[in-house]
Amino acid sequence: MNTQLMKNLKFNRKMAQLVLLQRIELASPLLKRLRKIFGRYFFSKICSKYFININKISNSYTKLMEEEISTIIPFLKENQKILSIGSGLGGLEIAIMQKFYKTFIVFIEKNYTSNKIKYGWDSKNKEGYNDLSLLENLIVTNDISKEQFSIFDYDKKNFPKMKYDLVISLYSLDYHYDFQIYLDYLKKNTDENSLIIFDTIRYEYFYKIFNEVKVIKEDKNTVHKSKRIVCKMFK
Ligand SMILES: C[S@@+](CC[C@H](N)C(=O)[O-])C[C@H]1O[C@@H](n2cnc3c(N)ncnc32)[C@H](O)[C@@H]1O
Repeated sequence: MNTQLMKNLKFNRKMAQLVLLQRIELASPLLKRLRKIFGRYFFSKICSKYFININKISNSYTKLMEEEISTIIPFLKENQKILSIGSGLGGLEIAIMQKFYKTFIVFIEKNYTSNKIKYGWDSKNKEGYNDLSLLENLIVTNDISKEQFSIFDYDKKNFPKMKYDLVISLYSLDYHYDFQIYLDYLKKNTDENSLIIFDTIRYEYFYKIFNEVKVIKEDKNTVHKSKRIVCKMFK
């Protein structure tokens, strides 16, 4: 395992714009004000494109991903097969692959960006905020070999069959859309030792689904007051 801190991710304008839609906390106070005044459509199409400091956003995103990896580090080790659901631009996963060279990561993500970004629960799971070519581009420009990962478009439904050791979904599965959407796939592609980590506002519900549920992080200051949980063994 390589213990060095993550290399600073370098974004181009399109990446910086996209990551703002995935992580609104990276927006400057001015941008957040513009979003409030002019609305989400204007924010997604104009503000996030032209009123941004690309270096600042990539530095803050890199730091944020370092913080995120620290919340799941006890569950990471060499040689794992990891499924990442809704990775966004993949900063966390790049950090994992840089630290654990023998990890293999399957990404499942959407390949489009909604016109109007909603930050709530989307029962039909219609919203998407990604571009899979940008995701791949960011990963390979950070010296990750193409053999270490593969990317699948959620809408094509051609997900690979394998036994995942770990499933990660930060602020995506059950945070923006129902866990149910992935339930069958996860049941078929995990075993009794697999760990499933995600953010939710209804962690008690998962005692019905899993034998083990443990809270590993609490977001008290955010609007949604979610918890990050690690779950094991489907019932
Ligand atoms: C709020 S962003 C979080 C991104 C990233 N996990 C992070 O922590 O920065 C939610 C992500 O979930 C993705 N998404 C939405 N529906 C999805 C689905 N059914 N499967 C996989 N990803 C999905 C969106 O495209 C978006 O990139």
